[in-house]
Amino acid sequence: MSNTMSVGDIDYGTPARDSATLVTLDIDGRSVTVPEGTSVMRAAMEAGITIPKLCATDSLEPHGSCRLCMVEIEGRRGTPASCTTPVAPGMKVHTQNDRLGRLRRGVMELYISDHPLDCLTCPTNGNCELQDMAGAVGLRAVRYGFEGENHLKAEKDESNPYFTFDPSKCIVCSRCVRACGEVQGTFALTIDGRGFDSKVSPGALESFMDSECVSCGACVQACPTATLTEKSVIELGQPEHSVITTCAYCGVGCSFKAEMKGTTVVRMVPHKDGGANEGHSCVKGRFAWGYATHADRQTKPMVRDSIDEPWRVVSWEEAISFAAQRLMAVQAKYGRGSIGGITSSRCTNEEVYVVQKMIRAAFGNNNVDTCARVCHSPTGYGLKQTFGTSAGTQDFRSVDQADVILVIGANPTDGHPVFGSRMKKRLRQGAKLIVLDPRRIDLVRSPHVAATHHLQLQPGSNVAALNALAHVVVTEGLVARDFVTERCDPVEFTRWEAFIRDPRHSPEAVEEHTGIPAAELRAAARLYATGGNAAIYYGLGVTEHSQGSTAVMGMANLAMATGNIGRDGVGVNPLRGQNNVQGSCDMGSFPHELTGYRHVSDDVVRQQFEAVWNATLDSEPGLRIPNMFDAAVDGSFKGLFVQGEDIAQSDPNTQHVFAALRAMEIVVVQDLFLNETAAFAHVFLPGTSFLEKDGTFTNAERRINRVRPVMPSQTGKQEWEVVCELAAAMGYPMRYEHGSQIMDEIARLTPTFAGVSFAKLDRVGSVQWPCTDEDSVGTPIMHADGFVRGQGRFMITEYVPTPERASRFYPLILTTGRILSHYNVGAQTRRTANVAWHPEDILEIHAHDAEQRGIRDNDLVSIASRIGATTLRARISDRMPQGVVYTTFHHPVTGANVVTTDNSDWATNCPEYKVTAVQVTRSNHPSDWQIQRGAVVEVAAE
Ligand code: SF4
Ligand code: SF4
Ligand code: SF4
Ligand code: FES
Repeated sequence: MSNTMSVGDIDYGTPARDSATLVTLDIDGRSVTVPEGTSVMRAAMEAGITIPKLCATDSLEPHGSCRLCMVEIEGRRGTPASCTTPVAPGMKVHTQNDRLGRLRRGVMELYISDHPLDCLTCPTNGNCELQDMAGAVGLRAVRYGFEGENHLKAEKDESNPYFTFDPSKCIVCSRCVRACGEVQGTFALTIDGRGFDSKVSPGALESFMDSECVSCGACVQACPTATLTEKSVIELGQPEHSVITTCAYCGVGCSFKAEMKGTTVVRMVPHKDGGANEGHSCVKGRFAWGYATHADRQTKPMVRDSIDEPWRVVSWEEAISFAAQRLMAVQAKYGRGSIGGITSSRCTNEEVYVVQKMIRAAFGNNNVDTCARVCHSPTGYGLKQTFGTSAGTQDFRSVDQADVILVIGANPTDGHPVFGSRMKKRLRQGAKLIVLDPRRIDLVRSPHVAATHHLQLQPGSNVAALNALAHVVVTEGLVARDFVTERCDPVEFTRWEAFIRDPRHSPEAVEEHTGIPAAELRAAARLYATGGNAAIYYGLGVTEHSQGSTAVMGMANLAMATGNIGRDGVGVNPLRGQNNVQGSCDMGSFPHELTGYRHVSDDVVRQQFEAVWNATLDSEPGLRIPNMFDAAVDGSFKGLFVQGEDIAQSDPNTQHVFAALRAMEIVVVQDLFLNETAAFAHVFLPGTSFLEKDGTFTNAERRINRVRPVMPSQTGKQEWEVVCELAAAMGYPMRYEHGSQIMDEIARLTPTFAGVSFAKLDRVGSVQWPCTDEDSVGTPIMHADGFVRGQGRFMITEYVPTPERASRFYPLILTTGRILSHYNVGAQTRRTANVAWHPEDILEIHAHDAEQRGIRDNDLVSIASRIGATTLRARISDRMPQGVVYTTFHHPVTGANVVTTDNSDWATNCPEYKVTAVQVTRSNHPSDWQIQRGAVVEVAAE
């Protein structure tokens, strides 16, 4: 697969079929063999015979409305549409003759007679299927003229910030309507009216922005005319080349063709061959890339002696020397362990690898941690204990084979939208859905999708609910005995079975704690255990709890007990938040683990690294992020390197984080923007956006994708180069000529990556680790022939309620999450037009809780916990159960983490973001914290 390519893919007209039965037919005298169920149109296209078409495209099921693709089939009457006609053995098809030509020109005449003839100034000139088809059928005249009744004056809808809708150019092919339904699953568009009056309409004749549209862009991509067009194309013109790369937002890891004019991105088009997304995207990946060239980007290194001084722009040499001298001075004064660093799940594998290498080899300690600490560290722990590897078990495609889908603490349509669309497609095909979540997420009820069971549990009671599900499986005789006997450790199973059988885990016994009606929980357990292939998908609503790791093990127990591991359609699947959470963990970012999750105390492994790195490594695990903060406040931790992560906004108990950062003598921030953390930094090293990076990301399905630069680095350097220079300035030389050499070193030192190289990825597109040798193309489904650890291990999952309880003073429970239009701390998406959908964080509250407090929709409210208080706007929402409130943390001015506590997962210290006891009251002013942060104007506005 080449790096740079022309714009546009071959469109085969209808989707590929995967039948094992092959059919041979004759098209224009050529013998063609295709899978059964393939359309005549696709069979012709695959043989290199082009049939004119307008309403057909290979991302959608055929519709058969335009009649341009008609063909003759010997022995059949009339001229059937080739897009809707499946192939048959021995069929003889003629795609071109005088009669077909005449008929097609007639069809085109009708279209063109009601179409503006402004081709030369049309934004899609040169990339318009209508124009192409007029040429292809040889249209030379329009007998009807252009004076009749037409739609040429239809009004444009420019309400969406990213695309326009110009109905004067619409040919009512319904590709957009079908894309919105079939691919995206939102069903925001309809064809309103009949015959001549029929027109595309978002909702009940609303504008796009007022409709249910989620701006995924699938309709824009499907539109064969200029009716739906990206505003960037209107502004910049048609692209001239494209580069395949990977989205830098969520853990779905969608592949895109960045369509370019020189070094300017014209548009991002989801890549049809992208293993994770297969041609689909969400609003973030397709449209929200403008932050990369935003005026706020800092592209020059800066230093300052104290955080109270203004920044000084300096040369790279001066910044690196300043950082190195300060870090070494701190170590000389306070000891080798007084400094450390944090790697970023937004950076490439190669960038993360060099940072942890710098810390272990140049800093000389293991004080390296990653932002995954605060999201999916319990996943790593829980899945390693039970299955033997710290990663999800399936590829995304696997969901197509699931019969029962259990979604726990995840909101795929907002957090992982492209996978959410795939899941919805499977649900529309009939798979059953169980949602375990306090909040009524979209999946519970959306067009053509309804959960069979919504187990609306109390925040913090995941483990009790999971144990109760397992209790039903065990006590009602639903255990997959053969699977357990063959695949799992018998001693651990017997121990677990006795534990879970105890009546204290019954749905009835935990009903009061969980809030889930026992009968409903029993029914859900039976469905999961007996409904066919059952797959678990989960998110931070599982991990970000004081028992996050226990809950992960509870899900693994449930999957093993029912035999739902090791094949398509089943599994335990973490939906990763950031683009490279999986990769940053794989790359040895945890203080106790080298790459591939091998413990630093393992002498054999450590010696391999020492030999290749030419350094002596510490065999003791270093500090985790919360330990670093505590040690900073205590005065023993004095220096921090922070790679692409805004800990001052994203980590819990903001006041404590601020105190820790303020107590340090040297903080080095490597980032795109002067973020909240940079306010406490002494050195700012400008970073690169994904459009400048040359490396790899690893998505939630362990898929390693290439990230390719489409423009030169705005800072003049790759981030890994800067890290290498810093390590060298500290006396430990690290040299690579290219990112591929870093991957080669990773592969050399990491058995699960042994067969990975840039050259292979460029050749095959992507691979899912384990990829253990040159011939391997990776492992889509884990544990297929046995668990990685040998035998699956059932773990005891005692439920211990969180110490964070509602009380008279703090009677509500706050839980946090993200929304579709924003990403994490919002540093990127707030610098795009995505703010049109979500300009501020909102507190969702149940009507009863609001009424009790005299709160109306849109009121400013104060939210106070035992830790702190902040102010934001309220929205009365029927998604919330009584007693639970919800907000996002995308806007620093809101400071949602000012109220979250220090409670954390017992095994991994992942913070308990999902359970904070709070009180909510009406307010008319910002909180003290917001006033200190200078946020008065923004919050008090309106
Ligand atoms: S942008 Fe996506 S959600 Fe909106 S109408 Fe188009 S396909 Fe539907
Ligand atoms: S907007 Fe485009 S895709 Fe939709 S019906 Fe009109 S021409 Fe077809
Ligand atoms: S689903 Fe995730 S990876 Fe895909 S385009 Fe959206 S944000 Fe990017
Ligand atoms: S392309 Fe077949 S009917 Fe339109």
